[in-house]
Amino acid sequence: MQTTPVLFLLSLPAIVWGRCNIPAYFHGDWYSRESGTDIKTLINADKWDSNEDETQLECVDIFIHSNPGLQQDGDNVTMLMVKTGGTNLNTCYMCVDVLWRTPNILQYRQEDCITARSGSQISLNDSCKSMNPWYGLPSIDVTFTMFKQSLEKINCVTTFEGVYQFSYEVDTGGGGICNHPDSQIKACQEPGSQYVDNDVFVMTYRKCLDVSTSKNEQIRYQCMGSWFAVRSGIGYTYAAVADTVEQDTREKFKCMMTLKNQKDANNQIRWVMSRFPDCTSLSGVYRGPLKLVLTRIPISNDYNTPRCSFDKDIVGNWFIKRNRITIDDKMHFPPALNQMDFYLSCQQTNGTRYLLSQTVLGKCDVNYVCMDIEPRNERFLQLKVGVPFRVDLRELEDPGLLFRANCETLADTSDILLDKYPISI
Ligand SMILES: *[C@@H]1O[C@H](CO)[C@@H](O)[C@H](O)[C@H]1NC(C)=O
Ligand SMILES: *[C@@H]1O[C@H](CO)[C@@H](O)[C@H](O)[C@H]1NC(C)=O
Ligand SMILES: *[C@@H]1O[C@H](CO)[C@@H](O)[C@H](O)[C@H]1NC(C)=O
Repeated sequence: MQTTPVLFLLSLPAIVWGRCNIPAYFHGDWYSRESGTDIKTLINADKWDSNEDETQLECVDIFIHSNPGLQQDGDNVTMLMVKTGGTNLNTCYMCVDVLWRTPNILQYRQEDCITARSGSQISLNDSCKSMNPWYGLPSIDVTFTMFKQSLEKINCVTTFEGVYQFSYEVDTGGGGICNHPDSQIKACQEPGSQYVDNDVFVMTYRKCLDVSTSKNEQIRYQCMGSWFAVRSGIGYTYAAVADTVEQDTREKFKCMMTLKNQKDANNQIRWVMSRFPDCTSLSGVYRGPLKLVLTRIPISNDYNTPRCSFDKDIVGNWFIKRNRITIDDKMHFPPALNQMDFYLSCQQTNGTRYLLSQTVLGKCDVNYVCMDIEPRNERFLQLKVGVPFRVDLRELEDPGLLFRANCETLADTSDILLDKYPISI
C-alpha cells in the first residue's frame, strides 16, 4: 500500500507535458478515402496512426466541444497533436478537429504543421483555428469521412424502416432513370424475430432493358448510423451503410443523404448515395452519384400471401362516404380513413368468418384479425371486426389453431358498414 504513491511520483516525469488521451469513442480501425487514396487509420488512447507514411500523431492537448443538449455517445473535439516517427527532424505540431457522427462514423480535418510565430507559443487555444469562435468547427465539405472497419451494430430505424419501391439513376454513363416495380428496399426485422432490432436492410436492384446503367443485384447493407449536418445552409440527414459481403473496402462503404420532411405530393422520398466511401460527393437530393426516389409499398411475404378468397358477393368496390374500399384478392382500406391505410388478406375462412392477416402500407409488422363479413341487404355489407393480434411462428404451423382460438367467437367486435355507392356529404 505504501509504495503506491511513490511509484506514482516516480512515473510522473516520464509523461510528456500536456500529453492527453484520445477519448475511447474514437478508438478503432478506420477507413477513409482521401483525394483518391485509401487511408487506414488506427486510433487508440496514445496515437493516431495512418498507413499514409512512417509517422503517427500523438495528442498533446484536447478540447472537448461538449454538447449537453445532445444525448450522444461521443463528442466533437479539437486536438493539438505532434507528429512522431519518420525522418523529418523538425517537430511538427498540428491541429486536428474530429466530428463525432455515429459510433461508426467520424469526420475530421487535419491542418498543416504549425510554425510558431515569435513571441507566441504553440498551444491549442492560440494555434488551432477552430478554437476561435469566429471559425468554429469545420463544415462537412472540408472534412474526410472515416468509416469504422469493425462495425458496431446500429438499428436501421433512423435510416430506413419499412418497405419501399425505388427508382434509381446512375450519374455517370448517361443511362437515365430505371423505375422497375421490383426494385425494392426492405428494412424489416427477420420474420419471427419482430421484436428484435433490425441492423440490416436489403436493397434489390432490377434491370430496366432501356437503361444501360441499370443492373440486377441484391445487396444487404448494414446500417452505420445517421446524423444531421448543414450543407450550403440546408440541414440534411446523412446516413452511412456497409455492404455486408463486399471485400473491397472502396466499394463496401457508402454515404447517403436525404432531406427530412420532404413535401412531395406522391409521398416520395429522395435520397442520394455515394459511389465510394465519401460524403462530399453528395451536394443535394438532386445531385449525387446515385439518385434514388423511394415510394412506400405494401409488404409481400409468406404471412400476407392470400390462402383463401373472399366470397364472390363481397368482392368489388365499396365505399365509406366517398372513400373507396376495394376487395379483390386483398381488402384495401385507403389512407383517408383515419390513417387506416392497410391491406387484409384472407388466410382462413369458415362460412362468413375470415381470419385475415393485416399489413400497413410501408410497414413491416404483420397482425392478424378476425372478421365476420356478411351482406346486410342489397346495398350494405357489414363487417364485424375483431381485435387485431400478433402471432408467433409456432402458432402459424397449425393455422387451424389460430382460427379456432380467435375467430369462432368474435370478442370485442366493432361494426363497419360498407356502402355500394359513394355518398358525398
Ligand atoms: C459536432 O459538430 C457539428 C457541427 O458543428 C454539430 O452539428 C454536431 O451536433 C456536433 N456533434 C456533437 C456530438 O456534439
Ligand atoms: C482555452 O479556451 C477554452 C475555451 O475557450 C478555455 O476554457 C480555456 O480556459 C482556455 N485555456 C487556456 C490555457 O487559455
Ligand atoms: C365451421 O363452423 C361451424 C359452425 O361454427 C363448425 O361446426 C365447423 O366445425 C367449422 N368448420 C371447420 C372446418 O372448422
